[in-house]
Amino acid sequence: MNPAIKTSGLTLKFGNFVAVDNVSLTLPVGARHAIIGPNGAGKTSFVHALTGTLAATSGSVAVNGKDVTPLSQARRVRHGLARTFQINQLFSGLTVLENLLMALQERDGTSAVFWRSVASQTRAIDEAHELLALVQLGKHARDRVSSLPYGLRRLVEIAIALATRPSVLILDEPAAGVPSTQSELIFERIHALPQNMTLLFIEHDMNLVFRFADQISVLVAGRLLTQGSPAQISADERVREVYLGHRGHHAAA
Ligand SMILES: Nc1ncnc2c1ncn2[C@@H]1O[C@H](COP(=O)(O)OP(=O)(O)OP(=O)(O)O)[C@@H](O)[C@H]1O
Ligand SMILES: [Mg+2]
Repeated sequence: MNPAIKTSGLTLKFGNFVAVDNVSLTLPVGARHAIIGPNGAGKTSFVHALTGTLAATSGSVAVNGKDVTPLSQARRVRHGLARTFQINQLFSGLTVLENLLMALQERDGTSAVFWRSVASQTRAIDEAHELLALVQLGKHARDRVSSLPYGLRRLVEIAIALATRPSVLILDEPAAGVPSTQSELIFERIHALPQNMTLLFIEHDMNLVFRFADQISVLVAGRLLTQGSPAQISADERVREVYLGHRGHHAAA
């Protein structure tokens, strides 16, 4: 089986500054892979280059064996690659269900709700409820986003990312800005997503990383320092030095 994700020599420069330096990473189907590293290590930049949010300077990205390097982010989504952002992108004045319906409309290119048949609207509502069920948000469908605890808002974003029916989901700090009492809940629900969905997440909280990742990659100054199981990473002296020493000063980006 092709790997879900394979980057080869992925590099992203901002002018002369190398934010992502020759990163080669392979994720088998169904992986739950964490990227860790100090602030400014290039984790988000790597995700930008991987998903096509920004065009890589060099290197390549394959999704399920298909080279998507020349493709835009939108085209990569059609090959099964979806992402969430480090910063919340919801319509907080609308309900959870309305946010999902807007995502489905955007996916299907049907912005003029007025013209839609009752049948297709019913289908969209059913699908929105299905997506909410994937992150166990069903009972909040009619709640206004602004009334939800922040942790649940982040789950709404994940449900929206799932609207494109991805085989690979990339999560940039899914628990960022969430009180620590809710961050575990977010990760439990992410973990409960279908086993064949490949997950790549950036997270600073090492307790969450060690609990929910099966593989961990450590980025430092744009480079892949090492990769391994949670046990291997927690025992790695270099990781302790460069990363664990930096713990706890994560600025809200
Ligand atoms: N658009 C940009 N233009 C110039 N430099 C940038 C740009 N975006 C990021 N950088 C720089 O690239 C480096 C990597 O940033 P990036 O956001 O990828 O780090 P990160 O590992 O995600 O950090 P954090 O843990 O704080 O989210 C940083 O030095 C940052 O200042
Ligand atoms: Mg980041």
